[in-house]
Amino acid sequence: MSRFITFEGIDGSGKSTQARLLADYLSSKGTKVFFTKEPGEGKLGEAIRNEILDRRDVDIQPYAELCLFCADRAQHVRELILPKLKDGYMVICDRYYDSTLAYQGSGRELDPDLVFRMAVASSLGVEPDVTFFLSIPVEQALLRLKDRGKERNKMDEEPFEFHSRVDEGYRQLIEKGVPRIKVIEASGSPEETQMEIRRFFE
Ligand code: TYD
Repeated sequence: MSRFITFEGIDGSGKSTQARLLADYLSSKGTKVFFTKEPGEGKLGEAIRNEILDRRDVDIQPYAELCLFCADRAQHVRELILPKLKDGYMVICDRYYDSTLAYQGSGRELDPDLVFRMAVASSLGVEPDVTFFLSIPVEQALLRLKDRGKERNKMDEEPFEFHSRVDEGYRQLIEKGVPRIKVIEASGSPEETQMEIRRFFE
C-alpha cells in the first residue's frame, strides 16, 4: 500500500483542496493519515516560509530561495515525515521536491542539474510512493486564484510566463516517464477530480 503520497501542481490547480479531501476520505475509512505541507511546517518551517513567501523588504536571490526551500524540506523530513511513517501513518504531503524542480528549476530557470541534486538531497532519501499531479490549463488556474481572493503570496504574484514555465517543468518531468507520478485531470469540479484520485485507492 502507498504510504507516502504527494500532491503537485501549479498555483490554483486545486491541489491543496484535493489533498485534504483525500486525507479526510482515507481517515474516514480507518487509515491512520498524517496531513502535512511544504513549505511551512514546524517552527523552522514557519520561519522559512515567512522569509520566502511573505517578507517584502528583502529581494531573495533565486539560489538563496532554492536553498531555503531545501532547508525547509530537510527539516520537515527529519522532524515530521519520517517519524510519522515510522509510526505507521500514511503521510499525505501538499507539495514536495517536484515543486522545487518545477518552480526553481523551470520557473526561476536555475541550473537544472544543481536544482535536481539539491532537491533530491533535501529529501534525505525519502521518496514518495505516489504523486498526484493536478493538470489544468495555466489560464484557468490563474483565474481560480483571482476568484478565490485568497491572500496572495510572492509566488502567486509572479507573471503568467513564470507560471507557464512551472507548468512546462512539471510536464517535462511527466514526459520522462516517472512511474510514481499520476496525472489527474483537474479542470472539472472538485468532486469529479476527487473521484478520479480515489480510484487509486479502490
Ligand atoms: P502556498 O501558499 O502553500 O501555495 P500552494 O497552495 O499553491 O501550495 O505557497 C507555496 C508556494 O511555494 C507555491 O507557489 C509553490 C512554491 N514552492 C516552490 O517554489 N518551491 C518548492 O520547493 C516548494 C515546496 C514550494
